[in-house]
Amino acid sequence: QWTTSSIVDDQVKRIAEQVGDGRAICGLSGGVDSAVAAALVQRAIGDRLTCVFVDHGLLRSGERTQVERDFVAATGVNLVTVDARERFLDALAGVTDPEEKRKIIGREFIRVFEQAERDLKAEGDYKFLVQGTLYPDVVESGGGEGAANIKSHHNVGGLPDDLQFELVEPLRLLFKDEVRRVGLELGLPETIVQRQPFPGPGLGIRIIGAVDAERLETLRAADAIAREELTAAGLDGEIWQCPVVLLADVRSVGVQGDGRTYGHPIVLRPVSSEDAMTADWTRLPYEVLEKISTRITNEVAEVNRVVLDVTSKPPGTIEWE
Ligand code: XMP
Repeated sequence: QWTTSSIVDDQVKRIAEQVGDGRAICGLSGGVDSAVAAALVQRAIGDRLTCVFVDHGLLRSGERTQVERDFVAATGVNLVTVDARERFLDALAGVTDPEEKRKIIGREFIRVFEQAERDLKAEGDYKFLVQGTLYPDVVESGGGEGAANIKSHHNVGGLPDDLQFELVEPLRLLFKDEVRRVGLELGLPETIVQRQPFPGPGLGIRIIGAVDAERLETLRAADAIAREELTAAGLDGEIWQCPVVLLADVRSVGVQGDGRTYGHPIVLRPVSSEDAMTADWTRLPYEVLEKISTRITNEVAEVNRVVLDVTSKPPGTIEWE
């Protein structure tokens, strides 16, 4: 019988064996998985771990501060923040295909880590790259036995072929609830451990259509409103996550104030789930939906319609891309 503390002991031992007296870089996304992976590796190799937070411009509002403040306060880890907004936006310009977006984002992450490795050369060689890959990421990227490739998770199917790092993936056999228990066992605060999932490719896969700075701004504003209202209604514990999606290539006619509008729809995708392998759409209270809809259409200029996704997984996946 695996207990959480035996998982921790076992993984710490394995990491120490794999890395030896080497050094490792860990990409932090602000999410639970990379935070727990980093904390495990830190326990195994101490300050021979350096975390890299990549601001790729596809983040939700407030995310960067949360990592820079909360995670560092909890762990005292070495953290480097890289502003890679231009790099990611340039690479994504004009790209609409979901798998292509995912592969570009996965590749650009690695390029940023390679640059960080060169910048850190003075301290020593960083040969290892830590990733918070979970079991479901492996399965859905086609890595599980007999599994189809549903989508390339940025840290699995999205990796470039010429990867120069050796990967350290201590969560590869775990599900999210187990990862959360490991995080608590390692002393990470609830604010990190209980965070709802957010995908590594970020808002890049929640804009249906090409990604650009203006569309990101629109989606970021709508997303912030939805999250604020769900939190205010005390619903965070009830939903697994609620992707907010911008249909950037769709327009519809509306009327606002005394004029015609021709704006974009925002999709709300609240889901309930145990492990993200399957999910049900969450029956949110009508008052909450009304509040979110009213605020988004009033406060976000380019949006004139809010729609609700009532599809389970399967047949829908949680994210739209
Ligand atoms: P789907 O859309 O496949 O999502 O039903 C299942 C869960 O995985 C998250 N997700 C990702 N997480 N990198 C990640 O770190 C990715 O590329 C990625 N794609 C999806 C998604 O938010 C959901 O929780």
